[in-house]
Amino acid sequence: MTRKRIIAGNWKMHKTNAEAEEFAVNLKVILAKIGEDIEVLVCPPATAISCTARVLDKTDIKIGGQNMHFEEQGAFTGEISGVMLKGAGATHVMLGHSERRHIFNEDNAMINKKMHAAFKANLIPILCIGETMEEKKEGLTSTVLENQLKGCLEGISKNQAQILIIAYEPVWAISNDDPTHKPATPDDAEEAHSFIRDVIEKIYDKTIADNINILYGGSVNPGNAKAILDMKNIDGALVGGASLKPGEFAEIVAAAKF
Ligand code: 13P
Repeated sequence: MTRKRIIAGNWKMHKTNAEAEEFAVNLKVILAKIGEDIEVLVCPPATAISCTARVLDKTDIKIGGQNMHFEEQGAFTGEISGVMLKGAGATHVMLGHSERRHIFNEDNAMINKKMHAAFKANLIPILCIGETMEEKKEGLTSTVLENQLKGCLEGISKNQAQILIIAYEPVWAISNDDPTHKPATPDDAEEAHSFIRDVIEKIYDKTIADNINILYGGSVNPGNAKAILDMKNIDGALVGGASLKPGEFAEIVAAAKF
């Protein structure tokens, strides 16, 4: 079974429109030499989606939103909807990132509503799941992952699950100001990915589980990408910090080549 590889960059709250355009211009040039056998995606802040999409128009590099509201429109000050992301040039949307869960209190029920709304807007959701360090220490990793998958995928059909992307991002591995945060070992990540695939098989079926793309996220960089991406059940990476420089990001894309 050969699944395609996907390398996605999550810019988080970084880059003005001018910086985003400069990044996109450079990435376009660098990736032209790397080839097209890997799906590459960048997720700018909402403000920079349309200018990034304009620069990357007619390339194979796709654009994702980092979050969206579950309603199409309405009195929700400060929010943006799936149709708005789509209209700005996004094809994908990240949902349930741990920073959304932990800083902005999003729970599985809310993420589930967003999943349904994303499909309705014809966006491909990248569903992010992952345990905290406390949960890992308490031996709760499997329970947490299974609950997140079941909660967030409630009512999502087999047809929809066929195009869905999952990102396993252990919260303790995501780089931030906490010096204890470090990447999962390839073996630890593989164990979690294999478990996630088993849960997808339980919820849906073996074909969907065999085909679904499961990305790893958490301190991926040009130095560790290949070892992580070589694992059987790891189909790509969702990259934060190292996706902010086109050269580093392109090195990770190059590491994803089969
Ligand atoms: P880092 O690659 O900076 O650890 O971020 C991972 C992440 O949160 C991607 O969504």
